Formats: sequence, structure tokens, C-alpha cells
Amino acid sequence: MSMIIGIPKESLPGEARVAMSPDVAMKLGGKGFRLCLESGAGLEAGYHDDDYVAAGVEIVDRATALGSDLVVKVRKPTGEEVASMREGALYIGFLETCDEDDEILQAMFGKRIRPLAMERIPRISRAQSMDALSSQSNIAGYRAAIEAAARYGRFFPLMMTSAGSVKPARVVILGAGVAGLQAIATAKRLGAEVYAYDIRPETREQIESLGAKPIELDLGEEGSGEGGYARELSDEAKARQQQLLADELARAHVIITTALIPCRPAPVLVTESVVKRMREGSVIVDLAAANGGNCPLTEADEVVRRHGVILVGHTNYPSMMAGDASTFYANNIANLLAIMVEKQGDELVLKDLDEDEITHAALVKPTA
Ligand SMILES: NC(=O)c1ccc[n+]([C@@H]2O[C@H](COP(=O)([O-])OP(=O)(O)OC[C@H]3O[C@@H](n4cnc5c(N)ncnc54)[C@H](O)[C@@H]3O)[C@@H](O)[C@H]2O)c1
Repeated sequence: MSMIIGIPKESLPGEARVAMSPDVAMKLGGKGFRLCLESGAGLEAGYHDDDYVAAGVEIVDRATALGSDLVVKVRKPTGEEVASMREGALYIGFLETCDEDDEILQAMFGKRIRPLAMERIPRISRAQSMDALSSQSNIAGYRAAIEAAARYGRFFPLMMTSAGSVKPARVVILGAGVAGLQAIATAKRLGAEVYAYDIRPETREQIESLGAKPIELDLGEEGSGEGGYARELSDEAKARQQQLLADELARAHVIITTALIPCRPAPVLVTESVVKRMREGSVIVDLAAANGGNCPLTEADEVVRRHGVILVGHTNYPSMMAGDASTFYANNIANLLAIMVEKQGDELVLKDLDEDEITHAALVKPTA
């Protein structure tokens, strides 16, 4: 018997991604998995049922996809989805919660469903190919820079024409993690003059290697935390950071903010007084909009104009590039599956998920 992977259609309004792409499905089929996709699940990402059938996937109804041994999704499951899942099933997807008492998690535990949370894959080199937070943030960083360029009513590059010359746009990127570095690279390719800031000093070299100029501030505190993430600053250092950044930010024509500490509200880096000082028509793309924003004037899922500045608060850039985002995500899932199973004769057998540090970290268990 082969292990059956069910892929339901994403149910969150506006979510265009799907957890499996036809080419990755074909590879998994070759490894002995049987894949069942809910009819139409890939349509918004540009993948038709026929593409999946050609890759060896069975097209099924929603109940069958959700009732599989292993269900893979992008977004956190809904109560209805958990109710349709079978007792003791495995689940792989983003769980989008830091709260162990979360209702959906509890509903899963109530059915002995074992969830592997994609956001808990550790940021270690062996897990890079499974790191869906990074694969999706990379897309978000690119798309954020494109969005900024499209909303900004002027040029990003230096333009010298017979009708006049314009200086390049001054773009500041706050947070030089995965999304931030990709935003820097994209804004540079578009010809902007790019500056970037992060509290982790080790990012300086990466910022420079992309051709941007690092902004350095003396906060009197070290910002590096565990696992490649930042540490939360003291209130004193936060205030100092806002103050020291203010002049740099007020001069910017475009700000792209990506500052994050997992499971914490987004740090405020762009204050209202800075927005007031920015030039009319400047743009702030706030990637942290879903977590409160790096600018308090950002509104999640809205584009608003405040004090003459355009604030962009989209919370799902990967979904705007759903075809590639789904393929990256499906590859992350396939690479995770590769360490979860082993072949015994003709059969795929699930390994002990606590034995490998990656699956151990991703597996969410009820608290005792
Ligand atoms: N809007 C979207 O569609 C979308 C999609 C993907 C990710 N995101 C968001 O983008 C953000 C970045 O994600 P990522 O994967 O690049 O995270 P990351 O952890 O790789 O990068 C975040 C960076 O912010 C830095 N940082 C933290 N606090 C800071 C502070 N006070 N000042 C300056 N820098 C600070 C960290 O050092 C780190 O380098 C997150 O908020 C994430 O939720 C949004």
C-alpha cells in the first residue's frame, strides 16, 4: 500500500496558492506516494486538473482529499477542514499560531491528528530546502519591491534623457532577513539607491554584497538572538532606534519594512512623525502589516494615503505570485517528506518523527 497524500483546495478567501504543483507531484509519485488532489485546487495558481492527471495525480472530491492519511495545505486549516480529516492523520502546513491553546490545534489533538508546522522548521543548513517561511518570504521581498516601484510615481533608476534627467530613488529597507535581502536585490536591479538596516550586525556584509549601503546605529545593545533571528530590544533601545533612524527615513522616497521577531508584535520603526516628514508621493511597503506593522499607520490588506505618503499593507504577496510560490512550497514539502519516510520493500513507512531534529521541531504536540 502506498502512502496517500491529500491536497485540498485552499479555503481562505484570496489565497491563490496550492500545496502541490504538477512537477513536484510527479517526483513524489516516482518515490511511491499516491497523490489525491481536490478538483480545481490548483486553478488559481495556474495549474489545471489535466496538468496534475498528466503527472499521475488522482483528481478527487474535497471529502476524499481531506480524508487522506496525510493532508498537505498551505494555510492554517479551518474547523470544517479538521472535522473532515480522519482520526490519527498526519497534517503538514503552516499553522499560523504561537498559542499552544489555539482552538484549531486543540481540535486536531482531539482527533489524534499529528500536525507538522512549516513555520517551525528550524533555520539550520540541513533544513534549508524545507524552509517554507524562507521560500515564501523570498517571493514577498521581490514582490514588495515591485509593488513599491509601481506605486511610486517617479523613476527608481537614474534617468538621463534629452527631456531632462532624474536622480535615482532613495530606497531604505528595514530588516535584512530573507524578505529584506530579496527586496534589496530587486530594488538594486531596478536602479534605485538602496540603504538597509538590521539590528543583527552580521547582516552588514550581506547588505554590502548586494550593492546596498548599510545604515549603522549605535543602540548600546546587541540585536542577534537564537537561530538566525533577532532578539527583542529593551524599551530604551527601541526608543533610541526610532530616534536615530528618523533622519535617514525622512529622506527616503521608498521604505520597505520587513523587521520581525517570531511570535512578537512587529517593532515600530517608522513613526507617524517620520511619515509626516517624508516627501509627498513617497511609498512605504510594510511587510509586517499582518503583525501590527513596522509603521503604526499601515492598515492590513489596504493601501492608504496618510500625510501624502502611500502606505501599502498587503499581507499575502506570495499569493500574488501563486504559480512559483506553490512550486517552491511543494518542493519544501517534498524535501520534508523525504526525511519522514523510508522504503521497506515496496512500501513507504513513516519514521519516528522525534528521531530527526527537523521533524521533531516541526511536530506540534499537546502540552502535558
Ligand atoms: N506581507 C506578506 O505577504 C509577507 C510574506 C512573507 C513574509 N512577510 C513578513 O515579512 C517579514 C520578514 O520575514 P522574513 O522571513 O524575511 O524574516 P527574517 O526573520 O528572515 O527577517 C526579519 C529581519 O528583521 C530583523 N529585525 C528584527 N527586529 C528588528 C528591528 N527592531 N530593527 C531592524 N531589524 C530588525 C531581524 O534581525 C531579521 O533580519 C515578517 O514580518 C514576515 O511576517 C510578509
